[in-house]
Amino acid sequence: MKIQCAEAIVEIKGDLVYKRRIEKRYRLKEIDERIRRERTKSEAKIISEARRKGVPTPIIFDIDDYELVMERIEGDLAKEVINGAIGERIGELVGILHKNGIIHGDLTTSNVIVGRDNIIYLIDFGLSSFDSSIEARGVDVHVFFQSLSATCESWKELKESFIKGYTRTLPDAPQVLTRVSEIEQRGRYVVRKVRGGL
Ligand SMILES: Nc1ncnc2c1ncn2[C@@H]1O[C@H](COP(=O)(O)OP(=O)(O)O)[C@@H](O)[C@H]1O
Ligand SMILES: [Mg+2]
Repeated sequence: MKIQCAEAIVEIKGDLVYKRRIEKRYRLKEIDERIRRERTKSEAKIISEARRKGVPTPIIFDIDDYELVMERIEGDLAKEVINGAIGERIGELVGILHKNGIIHGDLTTSNVIVGRDNIIYLIDFGLSSFDSSIEARGVDVHVFFQSLSATCESWKELKESFIKGYTRTLPDAPQVLTRVSEIEQRGRYVVRKVRGGL
């Protein structure tokens, strides 16, 4: 059985990565093509904008209708190698994104590469957007914390490391972190209601 759940097919050839958005047959053809074209363009734009603001991301070499050609980052996914120093650096980078009005949209430890050069890169801006609201930032950080608790035993310490870095680069960090706690509470409330039969 083969499950196709991704929006895109990623192929690595030599020094280059080809990320192609695949057709979604449940969408009307014209709408599907428009969505794929827009998301491809928007991903390229935000990846480049993030790098201009000081967040390492792959260099975009080419944009086709549905395909990005970008620099291949050699290294390991954060999910395999994360430690306190890496968690703190990820926090700094996410703080820089948020300060510049960028929401990553899919912050997981599979979307961070620790380069061979020891530079930490953020990748996969396929769900990114421009948004400066506390809520959008809070959801971004919440998604990252969830991914930590799903993949790392030492997630509690890693959360603290992230917060240290995030607070260093984002002046509004305390407000965002309060919102993250509220978002966590909302999640628990829903679980309790469901368990109690609503
Ligand atoms: N620029 C890149 N350099 C090296 N590996 C990459 C790069 N872009 C993507 N990958 C690899 O491909 C995987 C999927 O790419 P990603 O952009 O995250 O797409 P998806 O939307 O399918 O998650 C990543 O988790 C990473 O392992
Ligand atoms: Mg990804």
